[in-house]
Amino acid sequence: MVLLIEIAYLVASVLFIVGLKQLSSPKTARRGNLLGAMGMLLAVVATLVVGGLDWIWILVGVVIGGSIGVFLARWVKMTAMPQMVAVFNAFGGGASMLVASVEYLKPGTAGASLTVALTIVLSVLIGAVTFSGSFLAWAKLQGHFEKALTYPGQQVVNALTFIAILAIGAWITVQPGAPVSLFVVLAVLSLLFGLIFVMPIGGADMPVVVALLNSYSGLAASATGFVLDNNVLIIAGALVGASGLILTNIMCRAMNRSLANVLFSAFGSQARAVASGEGGTKIVKEITAEDAAVLMSYSNSVVVVPGYGLAVAQAQHQARELADMLGEKNVEVKFAIHPVAGRMPGHMNVLLAEANVPYDQLYEAEAVNGEMERTDVVLIIGANDVVNPDARTNQASPLWGMPIINADFAKNTIVIKRSMSTGFAGTDNPLFYKDNNRMLFGDAKKVLTALVAELKNA
Ligand code: TAP
Repeated sequence: MVLLIEIAYLVASVLFIVGLKQLSSPKTARRGNLLGAMGMLLAVVATLVVGGLDWIWILVGVVIGGSIGVFLARWVKMTAMPQMVAVFNAFGGGASMLVASVEYLKPGTAGASLTVALTIVLSVLIGAVTFSGSFLAWAKLQGHFEKALTYPGQQVVNALTFIAILAIGAWITVQPGAPVSLFVVLAVLSLLFGLIFVMPIGGADMPVVVALLNSYSGLAASATGFVLDNNVLIIAGALVGASGLILTNIMCRAMNRSLANVLFSAFGSQARAVASGEGGTKIVKEITAEDAAVLMSYSNSVVVVPGYGLAVAQAQHQARELADMLGEKNVEVKFAIHPVAGRMPGHMNVLLAEANVPYDQLYEAEAVNGEMERTDVVLIIGANDVVNPDARTNQASPLWGMPIINADFAKNTIVIKRSMSTGFAGTDNPLFYKDNNRMLFGDAKKVLTALVAELKNA
């Protein structure tokens, strides 16, 4: 029986790894998701078969948790996905903390070995930080306490709290007879640390924090796997921990910022410097939907750059319709996807997949940048920072060094947005004032609907 269960765990782990690999391409992502889910089902069934568990309570938990999960998956909007992930991380961390606490309170367990005591402490510490930190991240993403909350001496308070947690954790690890009250202090201080760690980070940086906390939830689960001597939990936790860290790194690199800068500089919470430019009055030229439709329909090539505004307006279906209409008029249409366009990894891919935009129309930034000079029109839909040339030309810009889509090299650009407001980085965009740029002001969905109507008449 034990052998069968270990084989089931091994198969589940392989399914997780293959599933993760397949998640890296939009073409295979659905299958990857399914494989991961199958692996989890197998791991859960194998664990339940071990015996000695109270099936009634487990079934009650599955029915309640499963129903809430199905309801949330159907009800939560795509733009609120980062919040949902934050809450999932919180529950993952909370579960690890609770399981490790129960093991600690079992007579004889914590004192069984140094490894068990250490992993219990790690599960509680990381699990508690993930739990409270993720809930604060959720609140910030929802627009509550969005600003970075800072006060003088904050880093010192944070550092001292962390040192106290480490000291108590070390004491509990080496002293099996440590009083339970000390364990409670460890849990409470760790919960507090989760809050004060996320507090000074601005709401706009929460997606990076959520990816990092996702990694922590995996590490907490892995530590709990050691406590329970459960191989599949160790492996699954390590996979989540590693992939979360890789994702955090990718997001930081794509924004050209270090993790330390995200965590400690309160970026995104304050007004940013104004972009470069010649100074004086800057002239913005507008275009009507009718003229924009004519310009595009007489073009050979159009590159569409979607951004956060497309997600806000939920205009992905209209964007696809526009691309289809241009395609019928023999215009070559490509969608250029910047890795950090929107507010979560793969945001644009998910939106465009929802609207059934064919994968072979999606191009990475580098792939279209090479042919920008030959592109007739770049249509920028609700994107701003990812096409800001200051990233290449202005060292004083907060975007300096971030790889962008070089839309400003194209023959013409049309920008769809509601006003001259800045994007995430809070900085002006010199592209908007270029001679060959035209602004098409309005909500992306309404403007695209008007463009499609004009193309139908053209
Ligand atoms: P942003 O630079 O944030 O610009 C989005 C633009 O969309 C805004 O300027 C806004 O202008 C416009 N907009 C908002 N609602 C709209 C609507 N209903 N219709 C039309 N336009 C609308 O977006 P981006 O270019 O996608 O860049 C993403 C930024 O987020 C980058 O700085 C990136 O570093 C950051 N970030 C990304 C991630 C991930 S993982 N994707 C995570 C954290 C941070 P108006 O208000 O004038 O309409």
